[in-house]
Amino acid sequence: MSESHVKDSRRYMLELPVKERVKIVHQDIWVDCPQSLLALRMIKNIIQSPSQIQAPCMLVCGEGGSGKTSIVKQLKFLSRKWDEHVVFMALNENPGNLHFRDLFLEAMGAARSTRVKIKPTLPAELSEFIAIRCVRAIVIDEFHDALLSNRTDQAKTLSILKGLSGEPYCLSVIGFGTSLARNALRHDAQLLRRYYIHDLPKWTESENFRAFLAAYEENLPLRKPSSLYSEDLLKFLLMYSDGVMDNVVKLIKHAAIVALVSGEEQITIDCLQEAMSNPWAYKM
Ligand SMILES: Nc1ncnc2c1ncn2[C@@H]1O[C@H](COP(=O)(O)OP(=O)(O)OP(=O)(O)O)[C@@H](O)[C@H]1O
Ligand SMILES: [Mg+2]
Repeated sequence: MSESHVKDSRRYMLELPVKERVKIVHQDIWVDCPQSLLALRMIKNIIQSPSQIQAPCMLVCGEGGSGKTSIVKQLKFLSRKWDEHVVFMALNENPGNLHFRDLFLEAMGAARSTRVKIKPTLPAELSEFIAIRCVRAIVIDEFHDALLSNRTDQAKTLSILKGLSGEPYCLSVIGFGTSLARNALRHDAQLLRRYYIHDLPKWTESENFRAFLAAYEENLPLRKPSSLYSEDLLKFLLMYSDGVMDNVVKLIKHAAIVALVSGEEQITIDCLQEAMSNPWAYKM
């Protein structure tokens, strides 16, 4: 049987037992798609632009499940090869309930002694630290969390964010958040002016979506081709996902598992329907 519907590097998976292949389907993968690549290219250009008094900043805006954290992960991977150092922080990962300033200093790797100072401002040695480590940007996932805290905290965070992109730090702030982040930025005209806002679009019936589905299918360990990009399957996926990346990926994953467990080895409309009604009901 032809295996050309699966990419070379993953063909060995077709020989694995169903149980192993189900585990593989569950794993998150990265598939290049134009909207993610565009965002990544813009961020790279911002970070690699010459130093400016006002460092350019960007907010990548997308609703829940639009693929923001996946772009951040990809950026982490790509930026390891750049000369410019990029620091990452996720505001939802805050078990110690730290204030933005402390989270930021922790992400920067600043010494604990620097962090514990009670002053709400940034420590004086920070600019030196940034220069020595060649830090050019700070990437913040769940950016809306920074802007939606109580009023006093919010004012402090906004003031720190303004400070970071100006002298002496000149850091580009790259935020990833929902429209709540955009609305919060809109309340501060000075901050808003510094940010380029880039929206992550939903999927529509387009060549790009067809290409994404074809590329996703090449990664699935199914022994028969499904042609996810064909008219019927594509329309089904669009209709029941509302064009949201997370919904599309979940539907494909669950339908692939149905196809594996049933022995069908290809995703059909029936598999998708079963995946929608009983996503976790499979027996192995
Ligand atoms: N380019 C991509 N290729 C393949 N899968 C992707 C891609 N982008 C996102 N996904 C998948 O879509 C799902 C949702 O993505 P992600 O968690 O990045 O969205 P998000 O916008 O950060 O969501 P939230 O708003 O809930 O934080 C994940 O399962 C992820 O693996
Ligand atoms: Mg996320």
